[in-house]
Amino acid sequence: MTQPFIVAIDGPSGAGKSTLGRRLARELGLLYIDTGAMYRAVALAASAAGVDESDAARLTEVAHRARVRLEGDPDSLRVYLDGRDVSEEIRGEVAGRLASVVSAVPGVRRELVRRQRELGEAGGGCVLDGRDVGTVVFPSADVKFFLTAVPEARARRRLDEESGRRAGQTFEATLADINERDLRDATRDDSPLKIADDAVVIDTTELSVEEVFRRMLQTVRDRRP
Ligand code: DC
Repeated sequence: MTQPFIVAIDGPSGAGKSTLGRRLARELGLLYIDTGAMYRAVALAASAAGVDESDAARLTEVAHRARVRLEGDPDSLRVYLDGRDVSEEIRGEVAGRLASVVSAVPGVRRELVRRQRELGEAGGGCVLDGRDVGTVVFPSADVKFFLTAVPEARARRRLDEESGRRAGQTFEATLADINERDLRDATRDDSPLKIADDAVVIDTTELSVEEVFRRMLQTVRDRRP
C-alpha cells in the first residue's frame, strides 16, 4: 500500500502555520488537520469537567474520553467536542492557555498523537500543523516546514487575528502571553517544540503570506511525486 503524502508544519504560536497550512491543503487538494485544535478541545473538556490542571491522570482520562472531530474543508474547518460545535470557544483565552498546560501531559499527548496518526494515514494525504508533527507524529513526513517569526511580529498578528473576537487586549499582554506559551511549549519534557533536522525553516517576520506560500508550494512541488 502506498503511504499518503504528508506535509508537516511546525513552529511557535503566531508564525502563520494555520493560515499557510490551510492554503497549502486547499491548493494541493489535501486534508488539513489542525492538531492544536485537538489540544484546545481537550482543554475545554477538562475545564468543563472541573479537572485540576495539575492532575495528569485525570487530564489523560479526559483526553481518552473526549470525542474530538474535525470537519469540513480547510477554509471552513469546524471542531466538534462530544457532538457540540466548539470552533469559536476553543479560540478563547481560557482554552488557549489551558491547551498549553494539558499538552505537556504525556498521557494526553500519547492519545492525541495516536489519533493524529490515524487521521493522517486514513486519507489520500494531508497537511498537519502543530508543534511536533515533523518530529514525533510523522517523523517520516514527505515535506517538513518549520515556520517562525520574532515574538513581536507573532504578537502583532495574533492581536490582529483576535481583534474581532475580544476587545481590550493590549499588545503587551499578547506578547507576554506568547512568550509564556513559547517557554512552556519549548521546555516541556515530552515532545518540546524543536526543529526537525530535515525541516525547511522559514522565518516569516519580514515576509508576506503570499511570499511564504509561494516558497512552501515550490518546495512541495519539487518533492511531490
Ligand atoms: O497551535 P495552537 O495555538 O492552537 O496550539 C494550542 C496549544 O497546544 C499550544 O500551546 C501548543 C499545544 N500543541 C502541542 O503541544 N502540540 C501540537 N501538535 C499542537 C499544539
